[in-house]
Order: sequence, then C-alpha cells, then structure tokens
Amino acid sequence: MAQTNGTTKISYDPNFTSAVINATGPNCSPRLREVMTALIHHVHDFAREVNLTTDEYMAGVSLLNWAGQMSTDRRNEGQLVTDVIGLESLVDEITYKQASAHSGSATSSAILGPFWRDTPERRWGESVVDKVPDDGKVAWVYGRVTDAATGQPIKGALVDIWQASTNGLYEQQDPDQPDHNLRGKFRTDDEGNYAFYCLRPTPYPVPGDGPAGKLLDLLDRHHYRPGHIHFIVLADNYKSITTQVFDNETEYLDNDSVFAVKDGLTVKFSPRKGDTKANWELKYNISMAPLEEKGAGNVPSAPVASY
Ligand code: BEZ
Ligand code: FE
Repeated sequence: MAQTNGTTKISYDPNFTSAVINATGPNCSPRLREVMTALIHHVHDFAREVNLTTDEYMAGVSLLNWAGQMSTDRRNEGQLVTDVIGLESLVDEITYKQASAHSGSATSSAILGPFWRDTPERRWGESVVDKVPDDGKVAWVYGRVTDAATGQPIKGALVDIWQASTNGLYEQQDPDQPDHNLRGKFRTDDEGNYAFYCLRPTPYPVPGDGPAGKLLDLLDRHHYRPGHIHFIVLADNYKSITTQVFDNETEYLDNDSVFAVKDGLTVKFSPRKGDTKANWELKYNISMAPLEEKGAGNVPSAPVASY
C-alpha cells in the first residue's frame, strides 16, 4: 500500500502481511487463528499508517519489557498499561454485551483491574475496615442478590469486594495496612441478602512509578480514578459478575483514567442513623443471569495475578 511520509510517497511490500499470516500452521486452534490473523493485520496496518520507525518500535518494546519486569504476583503492570489505553474497558463492554444479548437485565459489569487478590470469607455483616483511617467515612453496604430471570433471591452467593484506603493505596501496596484490610468475601443468607461495613470510597491515582504512569505523563493525562468499590459475585449455575460501583459524588466520574465508568454503575450513599459504627449507607441490589447450560460458560472466580 502506498503511504506518505512528509512529501515522499512510500510503497511497502504488498505481500508481507499475508506471508506472515500464512505462516500459521494447520494445528493452530480456529479461535487463535482468527484472533492472531486480525491482530497481525491491524498491527501491520498501524505500523504502516504511522510510518513507525525502529527507534519508536524499540521505545514501545522497552515499555512492554519494563511492564513485565515490574510485574509480580502482587503487581500486574501489563494489565495497567492496557487499562490506560482503555483496552480492558472495551473488552469488558464486548463481553458484557455478548453475554447480555441472551440474558436480559443482569447487573452491568466493569473491569477487574489489577488489584484483586484472593481473600478469606468474612461473617455476614462484618467490617472489612480492619484499620479505620483518620479521614475515613464508614458505610454500611447491603443488598439482595437475585435471579435476573425470575427475581427470586439467590441463597449462598459469594460477594467478593475490595477497595483502596483513603491514602489511595490498596492493602497489598501499603505496608501500613493490615493484611486483607478493605477486602472480604461474604455469603448471601437464605433471603439472598448480603451486608458489610466498608469505607465510603475515595478517588485514587493509578501507580505512577512504572510504564503505565509514564505513558499517562507522556500523554499529558492525570492518573486518577473516581471513588469506587469492586465486586465479584459468584453463584452456582449463574454467570459470574465482575463490576465496580462509583459514588455519585466522587470526583473524576467524567474522566476516569482507565475509562471504566458506565451508566448504571453510579450509586448514592445516604446518611445512616442509629448505628454507632457507620454514618453512611448504600443499598446495592445485584441481579444475576442464569447460565444457559448448567455448569457451562461460567468464568473462574478471578485471575491469579493482581497488583
Ligand atoms: C482499579 O480499579 O483498581 C484499577 C483499574 C484499572 C487500573 C488501575 C486500577
Ligand atoms: Fe480499584
């Protein structure tokens, strides 16, 4: 295809991309063939479109290598890089829309993000705030998990939640927070109800000390996410839900640095009376789509690697 670089018209080998694609062998799985064929097409077209130079290519490779070198079982910098270019949010939208084409009004999903980690189950109504920060506002969060098709309560669903503290750090980033602070798993009771105490969420910056932060700076963008609480909800024979709820009074709702805010995910915290443990409360009901085929298509509880 002919390309212009300044005033010079450059022609690139028209057979190169198909030669790369045709190198795929007959034993490649059909889905991987489909995904990689499209990826090679788009990446080659991108390089030709911007006339990518070797120096620019090497800068990109260094950024990816840096992300790999920084990543551990506690830090998922590769995911963070994809988050700041909106890729995880786009994939979440694609996945949710495909799933909800068949399953109606299930609760909207949102990205997992890099900070999930496995955590022990806590008692119904327990607090996840093992250390209340001086500026923390404690909230009672409660609701019912129901079947999106019938409205019936789902007993024994697992509600896994996590959030950052008011200093902008998740517990695994912060040596001053107790292990598993501000995260916990809760089971719904016989009526499908769950409840816990947590902090009213506050905005925080995505980490700035690695390639994702560097990319944000180079793009002249801020690092902040609006205040949110993460949820993963699991129940037998239902599609799992990974989502986030955003305080409707938080900053950065309109310009989340990872583009995860969606309609239907903003919630209103109200003042709570007569509870010495919390001055705020949030009612948040969750609606789960039944699996079409028993036992098929559910996703694992969550990936292993997180920040
Ligand atoms: C988070 O929600 O915790 C998050 C998501 C994407 C990038 C960074 C943080
Ligand atoms: Fe988060």
